[in-house]
Amino acid sequence: MAKKLRTLPRIPGATNPSGTARSATIAIYSVKGGVGKTTLAANLAWYSSSISGHRTLLWDLDAAGGSGFLLGVDPRESRQAEDVFTRERNPRKLIRKSPFDQLDLLPADESIRALDARLASIGKRKRLSKLTANLSGEYERVLLDCPPVMNEISAQVVRAADAIIVPLPPSPLSARAFELVVREVAENSKSHPPILPVLSMLDMRRKLHREAREANPDWPAIPYASLIEQCAVRQKPVGAFAPRSPAAGHFAALWQAIETKLEERRG
Ligand SMILES: Nc1ncnc2c1ncn2[C@@H]1O[C@H](COP(=O)(O)OP(=O)(O)OP(=O)(O)O)[C@@H](O)[C@H]1O
Ligand SMILES: [Mg+2]
Repeated sequence: MAKKLRTLPRIPGATNPSGTARSATIAIYSVKGGVGKTTLAANLAWYSSSISGHRTLLWDLDAAGGSGFLLGVDPRESRQAEDVFTRERNPRKLIRKSPFDQLDLLPADESIRALDARLASIGKRKRLSKLTANLSGEYERVLLDCPPVMNEISAQVVRAADAIIVPLPPSPLSARAFELVVREVAENSKSHPPILPVLSMLDMRRKLHREAREANPDWPAIPYASLIEQCAVRQKPVGAFAPRSPAAGHFAALWQAIETKLEERRG
């Protein structure tokens, strides 16, 4: 596998004068469920670490724990994820190595089911921003796999993020979800991080999908593909088992677009 990866082009990232990447937090978020957030987060985290060469942390903020599953990290009987937010527990104590070089996971567990209410009650509105800033010395990219909610967790995500990736399967409901995300960002972040809509699960055999593509020709797109579904069976990102597939190419192009957005933002 390593041999194949070396033949892939290296994607340059935003770098500082010493040649190391400046850190960035990237949220994969929508208020809508089942739109491909976790699949995108795990695949993009792999591109960040394997192809851009960034030290990368995938932080699972959804109690369902899908990100760890997609990276093949076995769950542990632990209920400490919430303590990172509410008891100032050091997140480094929970971070796990993934099977992939430079890619670590901060797993979710059942304790964060009620995180929204707990965060709201303790009133620490910038807790997640502080935590991600604190990890920036060790990780050049932190990717947040978000739950499909609109509450204190998503408000904190918006404040912590340098870019927000919003997967949208072509449907009127997804378009509405996108409008809600745009509004939420405007309400919760003074810095207005760039929002990058991504047409996800795009199936050009379907009329609605073709129309959505035509209406948004500049948006990155991820096709509906059985290889992408296979990530959950193989517990690996597509790039790790089918690096030359069209699906892998789409994730690579999306990752490049995200790095470009980050560079533009930094001017
Ligand atoms: N491009 C794709 N092609 C085919 N299947 C996909 C694609 N993207 C995601 N899927 C499948 O769709 C389902 C939902 O994906 P995923 O879990 O990534 O969505 P999610 O937005 O994280 O969901 P939730 O809101 O429940 O966290 C999964 O079974 C996944 O394998
Ligand atoms: Mg998910």
